[in-house]
Amino acid sequence: MRIAKHVERLEGYTPGEQPKSKDVVKLNTNENPYPPSPKCAKVMRSFDPDALRRYPDPCCGALAAAIARRHGVASSRVFIGNGSDEILSLCARAFVDDGEAIGSLDPSYSLYKTLAAIRNVPWRGSAADGRPDPGADVSLFLWTNPNAPTGAFAEPAAIADFARGFPGVVLVDEAYADFARGDCMALAAAPENRNTIVMRTFSKSYSLAGLRVGYCVGPEDLVAALYKIKDSYNVDAVAQAVALAAFEDEAYHRETVAKVVEAREALVARLRGRGWDAPASESNFVFARPPAGADAASLFAALRGRGVFVRYFPGPKTGDRLRITVGTPEQNAAFLAAADAAIAAGIGG
Ligand SMILES: Cc1ncc(COP(=O)(O)O)c(C=O)c1O
Repeated sequence: MRIAKHVERLEGYTPGEQPKSKDVVKLNTNENPYPPSPKCAKVMRSFDPDALRRYPDPCCGALAAAIARRHGVASSRVFIGNGSDEILSLCARAFVDDGEAIGSLDPSYSLYKTLAAIRNVPWRGSAADGRPDPGADVSLFLWTNPNAPTGAFAEPAAIADFARGFPGVVLVDEAYADFARGDCMALAAAPENRNTIVMRTFSKSYSLAGLRVGYCVGPEDLVAALYKIKDSYNVDAVAQAVALAAFEDEAYHRETVAKVVEAREALVARLRGRGWDAPASESNFVFARPPAGADAASLFAALRGRGVFVRYFPGPKTGDRLRITVGTPEQNAAFLAAADAAIAAGIGG
């Protein structure tokens, strides 16, 4: 048996921990603390198991039509994936040749680096949030907006400006855009758009991370390239029906997003009041540095010991902070109480 050299070298992506116990405060993977639309439960209850004998619609026709209508584009400009992670993986295969590279902001979603390694091409990180400098060999640039793990928001005009001058494909990863003050969908939908894809997910603002559905809108030829290389039936029948129910319940979606945004602002204020460095976030998480004297890595471990899960990314650009997913007001209070207690106890205690 032979494993390809680049796969043998590969470290693989480490997803955030999914603890078995329900008795933890889980603020580590940017899931939504509120349930999905009640219309999802209704669709699931009334789903006819006999329909599962057949393969699902390979093009997610009904869901794609609803998405296309909402964004004012033809269905041929919409692609739906098994989570937006699948779309990222397909883009790495469709828009990158051997000898080319994948670029992104740095820090950003840590999966991008792994995707480049799987594709066996270099990954190039730009200096910081703001105007990226991808390097001449980058043929696919992944611009997360709002960025993760920072929560920082780039103006759509700056992204449009970058895309105009970029010779390759720009994928704007808008996993968290519903929590932000703006987005780039108009850029993706514009008839003159030749190289920009805007991607969204049902995992965050729609509370459906377990369902695995994401989508993107882009120029027809780029979308057609994704269709060419996808698995025939990449989104299952239940997922298509449930995602459609969530997508069409706009009032519930707006309400849930508003609750998360309100809880985020309260969390940022409380962290600042305790001496944390908590920059403004336009996402459903906060990337905050604990007060002087409290080491982020130790605090992460101490919180875990107290049943509070947040995310810690080691490294020079991220290792002095914790990424805290915004939970319900009660979960956020439990996190703050645990952090206060751990810091008061000199962290280890
Ligand atoms: C920036 C970003 N993009 C994409 C994803 C993947 O989302 P999905 O659940 O749709 O695969 C995540 C998940 O955490 C993310 O943070």
